[in-house]
Amino acid sequence: MTETKIAVIGGSGIYDIEGLEDATWTSVDTPWGAPSDAVLTGSLGGVGMVFLPRHGRGHVHSPTTVPYRANIDALKRLGVTDVISVSACGSFREEMAPGHFVIVDQFIDRTFAREKSFFGTGCVAHVSVAHPTCPRLGAACLTAARDAGITVHNGGTYLAMEGPQFSTLAESKMYRESWGADVIGMTNMPEAKLAREAELCYASVAMITDYDSWHPEHGEVDVSDIIRTLTGNAGKARDLVRRLPDLLGAERAPCPHGCDRALEYAILTQPD
Ligand code: ADE
Repeated sequence: MTETKIAVIGGSGIYDIEGLEDATWTSVDTPWGAPSDAVLTGSLGGVGMVFLPRHGRGHVHSPTTVPYRANIDALKRLGVTDVISVSACGSFREEMAPGHFVIVDQFIDRTFAREKSFFGTGCVAHVSVAHPTCPRLGAACLTAARDAGITVHNGGTYLAMEGPQFSTLAESKMYRESWGADVIGMTNMPEAKLAREAELCYASVAMITDYDSWHPEHGEVDVSDIIRTLTGNAGKARDLVRRLPDLLGAERAPCPHGCDRALEYAILTQPD
């Protein structure tokens, strides 16, 4: 058995964990540079917790400049076992309305200006990301959301775009009608891929803030609308997070889906 340590990577609107005991901001150094910010460590109900503000306090990193490798590496160094990503997204589905949450289980990665792997020259590895999120962790997030009274959708495909501009109308329609994406955001990739390479369980809680630009009865996306919906949702996200330690428990067995053993058959480079 391993001690559970839950990390929350908070997106826009989420800047701490409520009720954290022994809360301390700590700076972590990594070979990939500095993470987005110092990390907040502590415990909730006897379970270790770590919080990392994805964009930094004061929102200083754009989706492209977030140091994704340093962030995941810092969490690994702190002994994190489970990573919950909380982020804002647009919706491509009428029934997935602003204010609802989605437990994302698939991704289409359209990002192109980010470092996406810990592996390259020197050590080559190809991990599987066919199932990029951890079903066990996703199920815990779903239960936590339902218990918190949140309207939550179980499963959805998240299109990760580079940004920082929002999509054109043609892109929005294509992602929705031809590509089958359910939601769109700018930050879950390469985060999910890197978490898998780091053998961490990863779940994504996406908070819907808008209908992107496809919806004939809603206008274009606009940051002030996003902030308004996010502000209304921050309390719900906090409530969800607060319920996770009880659901996951202080100790954990090996991941039944093998997230914590992802590198077992992935490395091609011969050891010296
Ligand atoms: N984050 C929130 N809404 C979004 C949208 N419509 N597109 C990309 N990222 C978003």
